[in-house]
Amino acid sequence: MKEIRCGYPHNRLRRLRGNGALADSVRETILRPEHMMLPLFVVEGKGVKTPISSLQGVDHISVDRLCEVVEPAMEAGIKRFLLFGIPEEKDPRGTSASDGEAPVQRAVSDMLKRYGDSILVATDVCLCQYTDHGHCGILREDGSVDNDATLRRLAETAVSHARSGAHMVAPSAMMDGQVGAIRNALDETGFTETSIMGYSAKFHSAFYGPFREAAHSAPGKGDRSGYQMDPANGREAIREALQDEEEGADILMVKPSLLYMDMISEIRKNSLLPMAAYMVSGEYMMLRHASEAGALDWKKSMLEAHMALRRSGADIVITYGAVEVARWLSRS
Ligand code: PBG
Repeated sequence: MKEIRCGYPHNRLRRLRGNGALADSVRETILRPEHMMLPLFVVEGKGVKTPISSLQGVDHISVDRLCEVVEPAMEAGIKRFLLFGIPEEKDPRGTSASDGEAPVQRAVSDMLKRYGDSILVATDVCLCQYTDHGHCGILREDGSVDNDATLRRLAETAVSHARSGAHMVAPSAMMDGQVGAIRNALDETGFTETSIMGYSAKFHSAFYGPFREAAHSAPGKGDRSGYQMDPANGREAIREALQDEEEGADILMVKPSLLYMDMISEIRKNSLLPMAAYMVSGEYMMLRHASEAGALDWKKSMLEAHMALRRSGADIVITYGAVEVARWLSRS
């Protein structure tokens, strides 16, 4: 048989990969501890630090024991926290969400007292953990969520978080106008320096499952498709993001993250604002379970997933794995 001559490839991209020292210097994306934010679940009571069974590695924690989570995180370089409250009191209007003595508000002021501005304290602003029906807003008689009545409650809640000292509030209810309503309320009460991270493109996702167990916030009746976005809609996600920008958001967020990386990069192209991506409970646990089953390497898959989110355009990755990933990074 005649020998086949295929010539030489003109471009050899492998030249950039063969030498580790060179590969290090041409790497386009960097993942470091300062790129990650850790969610915390604050409960009522004293002396509580209970592992959340649906969300491995994450605890329900009471204010008096917060430092047991916050200080090791700080040591690992994680200085940004996103607080969720799990109240004992629930009612139709989510009254306890704006109570100055509720877990989040007490946690914020405690953290501010201890650590001041050496950390960033952000709070999730939503009603679903605080309403007895589990929806993210106030319900009308027919069971639908009343957008504008909810805006008032969200604004009151955000102001109460700011009053406790929160540096940043993150509205996640997916009500129209929520960023604008909160910006106005914060400005009118003198909190002009409190920033807003909009959960701009928050999809109606099956991947919030473990969180709902952690936050006791599954809706009793119906689902959230009336306000969270249809996973099929990419253009609409850009509209949501641009609207949040116009209403005064300082940071835009996409959630979930791994399945929605196209949205991260699209919004990145359409806005000059910094962006966050939330690796949600189901995405995190998917990697956990797969690793435990021997299908994936936990460390490598987590590092790759976080790096990929950075590459897609996220400045900040909100992640339950923040501390573990940060420790791996500082050892490498
Ligand atoms: C509250 C809220 C949810 C999450 C963050 N904020 C739950 C939901 O919208 O159903 C999910 C986070 C996660 O799954 O890790 N609205």
